[in-house]
Amino acid sequence: MMEKSFTLGILTSGGDSPGMNSCIRAVVRTALSQNARILGVLNGFEGLINGEFRPLGARDVGGILQRGGTVLHTHRSEHFKEPAGQREAIRHMNEAGMDGLVVIGGDGSLRGAHVLAQQGIAVLGVPASIDNDIWGSDMAIGADTALNTIMDAVDKLRDTASSHNRAFLVETMGRGSGYLAVLAGIICGAEIVLCPEIKVTVAEVAAVIEDAYRRGKNHSILIVAEGANIRAAELARSLDEMDVGFKTRVTILGHIQRGGSPTAFDRLLAARLGVKAVQGLLEGKSDVMVGLQGREVEFVPLEEVTSHPRPADLKDINMARMLAQ
Ligand code: F6P
Repeated sequence: MMEKSFTLGILTSGGDSPGMNSCIRAVVRTALSQNARILGVLNGFEGLINGEFRPLGARDVGGILQRGGTVLHTHRSEHFKEPAGQREAIRHMNEAGMDGLVVIGGDGSLRGAHVLAQQGIAVLGVPASIDNDIWGSDMAIGADTALNTIMDAVDKLRDTASSHNRAFLVETMGRGSGYLAVLAGIICGAEIVLCPEIKVTVAEVAAVIEDAYRRGKNHSILIVAEGANIRAAELARSLDEMDVGFKTRVTILGHIQRGGSPTAFDRLLAARLGVKAVQGLLEGKSDVMVGLQGREVEFVPLEEVTSHPRPADLKDINMARMLAQ
């Protein structure tokens, strides 16, 4: 008797991140190379609940490797957090004969993947989030591209900041993590970085900026993570009122950080994680995430991934401070 061929599903969920498309391509083509069928689930977990499935062939994922966003679309599904939503999703997966599912997304999406796996569905998680706040993987897909986008923006802002003798406050994304802000502080040479991991007062920030002014610097760059204890706009108002030497301007980078063509690093990471995820599912693994650890891709239990916070590294925070003299 011929063995039944595998049918795998793939979805992207949560905030999109550059490199998701490169990963979709890798997953689809690896599955096809192993004679598995692959169904693309549209709109993340919401599409799983609604049975929005499309069979994917090799040509369907041609020409997407270099594009930001996700061709499968994404969603932040509230409905999937409820048992009734999960039940519908499982019903549709069973109806479609899905033997396993690859979930590409951030911490919330990986929590969703874990919930499904606990209900008997074979699920493999792939970390993808510009926030890089996922435990168990040195890097998540998209973080490197976002960092490059921030670097380009800050380099441009520095030109105008130095021409006008101003202090520019640049707000970065990252939710509860200071990863993007801290690394941006190092690679862009910021005077100070405000991140959620370490609280600062307005007076402390003012002292640093006024000191830079007194030492003859002709401009100043402050990177403020969106999750820091003071928001960029509020801080700028206070600094202007206190008169720290420089006048301030605020730039909120916002969703620009989520778009754009993935860097070489993100494309390669996406390919390696995507290939390993399919291999894992076909070997019978479930309830794990593929994570980059050093130079290797490892399987990490989703229970561990979802129960550990991943703040910015204290060593990086200290390095950003030391170099900002
Ligand atoms: O998790 C990625 C992220 O871009 C965060 O950095 C940010 O706080 C959030 O998503 C924004 O979410 P939305 O696109 O739903 O506004």
